Amino acid sequence: IRMVLIGPPGAGKGTQAPNLVEKFKAAHLATGDMLRSQVAKGTPLGVEAKKIMDKGGLVSDEIMVNMIKDELLNNEACKNGFILDGFPRTIPQAEKLDQMLAEQGRPLEKAVELKVDDELLVARITGRLVHPPSGRSYHTLFNPPKKEMTDDITGEALVQRSDDNADALKKRLQAYHDQTEPIVDFYKKTGIWAGVDASQPPTTVWQSILKALGKN
Ligand code: AP5
Ligand code: ZN
Repeated sequence: IRMVLIGPPGAGKGTQAPNLVEKFKAAHLATGDMLRSQVAKGTPLGVEAKKIMDKGGLVSDEIMVNMIKDELLNNEACKNGFILDGFPRTIPQAEKLDQMLAEQGRPLEKAVELKVDDELLVARITGRLVHPPSGRSYHTLFNPPKKEMTDDITGEALVQRSDDNADALKKRLQAYHDQTEPIVDFYKKTGIWAGVDASQPPTTVWQSILKALGKN
């Protein structure tokens, strides 16, 4: 499958992506995870990106488009399809992506929007714990790890993301409504959009995604 997951911070993009990877054997391309790995390595891009991410802003379209282009061209795992998580996030990114995929003769098949009201997102974001190497996320209340602060699979430590605080979240939500939500209309026009109620529990959301993809 070749698809995009759209949704505000905390909508469940990173939570649902592994289900899609398992079902379709496709690659999970999460631009936020890619940026955080640059931050962890301390690269020049990581240093610059961290300043923007911690304030809840968006990294430039040029940097993000090149990052995804590189993955789509060079990541073998994408041959069998891909799930884009966190990209595109602006109209210019969406246009560039369409252009890129048209050149490669493999257009997007679906854009799934995970819809949740802002009020629900604060609790999801402030309770989130992540395993940085894999991008797996947990929640202190809604999806606790088997052992406190420990990844279920590797046994490694879980951490809180530096942008998961009420202040940065406010800015991330604003960036979502102002700059990312317009891509919903973009995909409605091209006819590949499907909306899902993502305020339900994770297993219910997963069933709705399968239904939206016509695969249930
Ligand atoms: P990114 O990492 O993409 O962050 P985000 O979009 O803010 O999304 P989140 O990762 O916060 O939410 P999610 O939907 O993945 O939620 P999750 O499944 O973890 O980007 C970070 C930053 O990088 C951006 O702010 C920007 O600066 C930069 N960036 C990235 N891409 C960019 C781009 N293309 N252009 C420019 N800048 C870019 O779930 C959240 C929590 O809720 C978890 O604890 C989970 O366990 C829980 N949960 C999930 N589903 C449910 C449910 N159904 N019920 C109850 N709890 C649930
Ligand atoms: Zn995420």
